Amino acid sequence: MAQFQLIFLLIFMASHSESAQARLKLMWKTFSCVSNPDYISSFKCFILETDKSLITTEVMYIKDIAKYNATFKLLMPRRPSKPFQKVIDVNVDICEFARGNSGHRFMTFVLKAFGKQVSQLKCPHPKGLYSYPKINIGESLPAFMPENDFKIEMNFLTPETHVFNTSLTGFLYDPLKKKAKIV
Ligand SMILES: *[C@@H]1O[C@H](CO)[C@@H](O)[C@H](O)[C@H]1NC(C)=O
Ligand SMILES: *[C@@H]1O[C@H](CO)[C@@H](O)[C@H](O)[C@H]1NC(C)=O
Repeated sequence: MAQFQLIFLLIFMASHSESAQARLKLMWKTFSCVSNPDYISSFKCFILETDKSLITTEVMYIKDIAKYNATFKLLMPRRPSKPFQKVIDVNVDICEFARGNSGHRFMTFVLKAFGKQVSQLKCPHPKGLYSYPKINIGESLPAFMPENDFKIEMNFLTPETHVFNTSLTGFLYDPLKKKAKIV
């Protein structure tokens, strides 16, 4: 499957081209979330004003969740100003993932972005306030990614229903040559 080959390519490149990664910077443009009111009473999703490469999420769960998945989609245009296409589309069982049984190693990169808060993703997932400050997805994104616009959709779902959907748009730029785009 082409998709699996791509994922392995990403992992390979992410671990072999640190310098390319360090060169490009990420800036978020939009961050929006939708919640299922049966599970979540309130939430916050925002891009940090002071550093637009960081996002913060806070979610108040009003119901325990025994078992849940996360889906992760990465979309980018194949060429600048072309329509977005799915590059990555994975669906991971968080309970299995937390036990170290993930079939999708790409998720390791994504969840690394949650830093210490990743322990909050374990199962079961008791109700309460979950806070993920200053998530740095840029540090975990594969280094192959070109200077370009991209979109990430990450959803959390139980076997019965969607619980929390997030959608992010942003772009990668070379701080040495794309100053104009930042303003
Ligand atoms: C989340 O996204 C899924 C799939 O796109 C959709 O079916 C569901 O209604 C969305 N959930 C919420 C709470 O909007
Ligand atoms: C959760 O992820 C597992 C592993 O990818 C998959 O087999 C299962 O169908 C997923 N469940 C849902 C509700 O999407």
